[in-house]
Amino acid sequence: MFDLKGKTILVTGATRGIGAAVVAEIHVGGANVIGHFGRNAGYAEAMQKQYPERLHLVRADLKDPAGADRLWHEALAVHGRIDVLVNNAGIYLASPLDDATAWVRSWAENIQVNLQAPADLCRHAIRHFQAIGGGIIVNMASRSSHRGDGPEHLAYGAAKGGLLALTKGIARGYAHENILAYAIAPGWVRTAMAEEHIATVGEEAVTAALPLREVTPPEDVAAMVAFLASGRCRHATGCTVDITGAEYVR
Ligand SMILES: NC(=O)c1ccc[n+]([C@@H]2O[C@H](COP(=O)([O-])OP(=O)(O)OC[C@H]3O[C@@H](n4cnc5c(N)ncnc54)[C@H](O)[C@@H]3O)[C@@H](O)[C@H]2O)c1
Repeated sequence: MFDLKGKTILVTGATRGIGAAVVAEIHVGGANVIGHFGRNAGYAEAMQKQYPERLHLVRADLKDPAGADRLWHEALAVHGRIDVLVNNAGIYLASPLDDATAWVRSWAENIQVNLQAPADLCRHAIRHFQAIGGGIIVNMASRSSHRGDGPEHLAYGAAKGGLLALTKGIARGYAHENILAYAIAPGWVRTAMAEEHIATVGEEAVTAALPLREVTPPEDVAAMVAFLASGRCRHATGCTVDITGAEYVR
């Protein structure tokens, strides 16, 4: 457990998958959590019941170009400050080569949700952190940020590659103002996003290809987010932490 008492942490895509594991971890650490969710009010209601204190949920559709701006302003209004931004929300939308309409729509959506919205939130966070003397950004990238994604998901890989470059640029440009930025690059994590792949390929085939012989639990990713959010390793700013169980080693 990492000491996060007194920190206000905004987590996007907070009500399921990796985001929900992050909320669990940072809540135990004592943080004031602002959890963002998109469409699923059911998950949000359940989460609010689970954490009646120190959790405030804010709804915003990040597909909407104005969504991230609205989210930031609503989130900031809750406690008047945000110390850590965790850009976790994302979509894994196929971009098939043989369907021009789907291709264009998929690129627009992948870029909007996986890159533009996180970038908009980073912009607000940097300006706010400048005003309060510093802060931390954790961006959820992917193994595909390094090596690209499969032929069906070229747009996803490109957006996640952009997120990595964004993180490095922020780290290099704003470290002198005590603004730290980290990326996390998971491989397959056991969430709804990986379900289709696991169902298609088969559990045994998936795990057989993994050195640890298991799909990464979301809790492992959450623990890393909490560590980075704690500010215990300032000099790692700009780094990308791979969490793939050694399946992808750079
Ligand atoms: N699961 C994996 O194997 C894996 C691997 C590498 C990276 N990631 C990344 O981890 C992050 C979390 O994914 P996950 O595995 O928990 O998947 P998930 O599908 O369970 O969660 C994605 C979250 O993003 C939110 N979201 C999606 N579109 C949105 C929109 N338009 N507006 C608002 N919110 C929206 C969802 O509501 C959900 O909370 C994503 O950025 C994903 O790209 C996941």
